[in-house]
Amino acid sequence: DHPIGVAVLGMGNVGTEVVRILQNQADDLRQRVGAPVVLRGVAVRRTDIDRGIPAELLTTDAAGLVARDDVDLVVEVMGGIDPARQLIRTALEAGKSVVTANKALLADYTGELAAAAEANRADLYFEAAVAGAIPVVRPLIQSLSGDRVNKVVGIVNGTTNFILSAMDETGADYEVTLKEATRLGYAEADPTADVEGYDAAAKAAILASLAFHTRVTAADVFREGISKITAEDLETASALGCTVKLLAICERVDGDGEKDRVSVRVYPALIPRKHPLSAVTGAFNAVVVEAENAGRLMFYGQGAGGAPTASAVMGDLVMAARNKFYGGRAPGESVYAELPVAPIGDTPTRYHV
Ligand code: HSE
Repeated sequence: DHPIGVAVLGMGNVGTEVVRILQNQADDLRQRVGAPVVLRGVAVRRTDIDRGIPAELLTTDAAGLVARDDVDLVVEVMGGIDPARQLIRTALEAGKSVVTANKALLADYTGELAAAAEANRADLYFEAAVAGAIPVVRPLIQSLSGDRVNKVVGIVNGTTNFILSAMDETGADYEVTLKEATRLGYAEADPTADVEGYDAAAKAAILASLAFHTRVTAADVFREGISKITAEDLETASALGCTVKLLAICERVDGDGEKDRVSVRVYPALIPRKHPLSAVTGAFNAVVVEAENAGRLMFYGQGAGGAPTASAVMGDLVMAARNKFYGGRAPGESVYAELPVAPIGDTPTRYHV
């Protein structure tokens, strides 16, 4: 049987776990796909570090790896815009399947990449780009494609949810809690992307694009982070029977007509203690989807971390590999409604759950 050759671009937290699963679960994967799934190589910045895999699998030449004839499927977990964008384009243009976890890239370039996938009848999957292990991309693209989604509201950043939960629990101030989060590995050395809401805004743009079948980029998203939240804010929230959560809110709002515009925003919001999102503490994520016929759905789980994110990557990889093997193609992203996005200045800055 013809093996499915896989190239992994990047060997950080997620890439390391993907490589581990590819190696340790090779038998399971072969059964699920119908053919062996073979790791052809891993593109890294430095090859002089022992990464626990045969040295001949490592290369600094990502473009060369992607171009190899025996590579059918590319897993992009290197992050950043360049060179990831070009590598993914090259792969898709060669008809190879691509699985990516790169939310910053997708937030701005889903249109370009989805068009390249479409033109070459190649698969482009990105379940891992939003909320780590939690299946939320595929439910929006597939399970709910026969429904009309009106709203998606979620806690999509683990770092900020860890900090806000800890502030709520301990009564400590923001700076102290951020330091503790950094010490414990929940916040990065430079926490800006997380605490100022950029990471959540990228995810909100992706969720809104999928939910409303339209095009939303990170620049369309109203954004306010958590760095100005004080211990007093949480005390006040508590006195009102609430807690504070950094929410990503994507909803249809009225423009010229009924619900004919999209509003996408990220900011710290008051959540009543009895609301299910208030029970989402620590580094966990949750996404609530409201659809006309399905009603309210809630997805909950681990939104970050190597293994949870790799789980979502592997799900995409199995599906893409099956498609390669059987010659099928699962539905990709569909854009049919060019819904205008409400100008940021017009955006409602209060939210009632
Ligand atoms: N920094 C992100 C988070 C990682 O805290 O949720 C997952 O995208």
